[in-house]
Amino acid sequence: MSKRNSYRLAAICFAGCLALLLARVPRAAAQAAAPAPGSRLRPVHAIEGDPAHGKNLFEENCSTCHGIDAGGEEGPDLHGVPSALGDAAVEGIIQHGIRGTAMPGFFDLTAKDAADIVAFLHTFDASTAGVVSGDPKAGQAVYQSSGCSGCHMIDGQGGSIGPELSRIGDMRGPTNLKDRLIDPGANLPQNGTGFYGSKWTEYLVFRAVEKDGQVVEGMRVGEDSFVIVLKDVTGKFHSLWKPGLRSLEPEPGKSLMPSFKNTLTPAQMNDVVAYLMTLKGAQ
Ligand code: HEC
Ligand code: HEC
Repeated sequence: MSKRNSYRLAAICFAGCLALLLARVPRAAAQAAAPAPGSRLRPVHAIEGDPAHGKNLFEENCSTCHGIDAGGEEGPDLHGVPSALGDAAVEGIIQHGIRGTAMPGFFDLTAKDAADIVAFLHTFDASTAGVVSGDPKAGQAVYQSSGCSGCHMIDGQGGSIGPELSRIGDMRGPTNLKDRLIDPGANLPQNGTGFYGSKWTEYLVFRAVEKDGQVVEGMRVGEDSFVIVLKDVTGKFHSLWKPGLRSLEPEPGKSLMPSFKNTLTPAQMNDVVAYLMTLKGAQ
């Protein structure tokens, strides 16, 4: 190698290390630092992403909220999201977050890191592609006649036993939605601890048996050392004195939402899913 080439190599290494170091500076410093000149000239989605590196970054930074397979936990299912929103939009969300929500901005991830994560998310495209086969109009009618709105709110209308669905079409894929209708409790957390304050802990069902044998089942809406407050399927609150209970246990895998496996036909379920997929919130 000529002397000149080795100088060049050294310079490249130095620049590379510097870039790595800059990428690692703590979040606050990264936020305060002015962007390197020219760093935003190229649209970020023009960068070719590396899915293997993206997978590592995802597991480190995103999986606690979006699930290890990006299938959604307290954060939404991300399968199919880059195809729906566009790569550039998702890269923007990763770097800047979504204001007013629990989705944080990752100011210390570079544009290349964001592109790598998007490349990783594209590896799930097959699992969500082309599944909307129902008729949304028919689905809306099924939704209205099946009691869904007794528990779910859409655009301010409906009950509040289950999560609001106004933006569900942006947050979940068709497969995920259909699974929910068939087996509602399947994706809920496995115990009452951990995930505290996460969306899904809220919907975990607890079963309390009182001294006289009366059973109360509901979602925990409050708890301290002596009292637990459960909200039952009718929306009624039960304030229970814990030392006076015969037993109190979480019921993992159970949901207050009934399964529609035997009450709706597969075609009706596809219609409901098609309807839910149209719910994108106020634009
Ligand atoms: C602290 C929890 C948390 C972490 C960590 C987190 N997210 Fe999120 N993310 C959320 C929540 C909650 C939302 C939904 C925000 C809303 O209500 O619009 C969201 C929304 C998103 C969306 C928009 C989805 C859509 O369809 O609109 C994308 C994309 C996303 N997150 C990607 C990521 C990636 C990639 C990472 C890791 C770099 C990450 N998130 C880390 C909680 C999190
Ligand atoms: C008795 C109340 C109740 C009824 C009736 C009900 N749900 Fe639910 N639903 C819930 C609860 C509680 C959850 C949260 C726990 C879970 O996912 O199992 C939920 C969760 C969901 C989710 C997942 C939301 C998310 O953020 O991923 C969807 C989608 C959904 N319901 C749709 C429907 C549809 C469509 C119907 C009617 C065919 C329906 N629900 C009927 C209570 C109900």
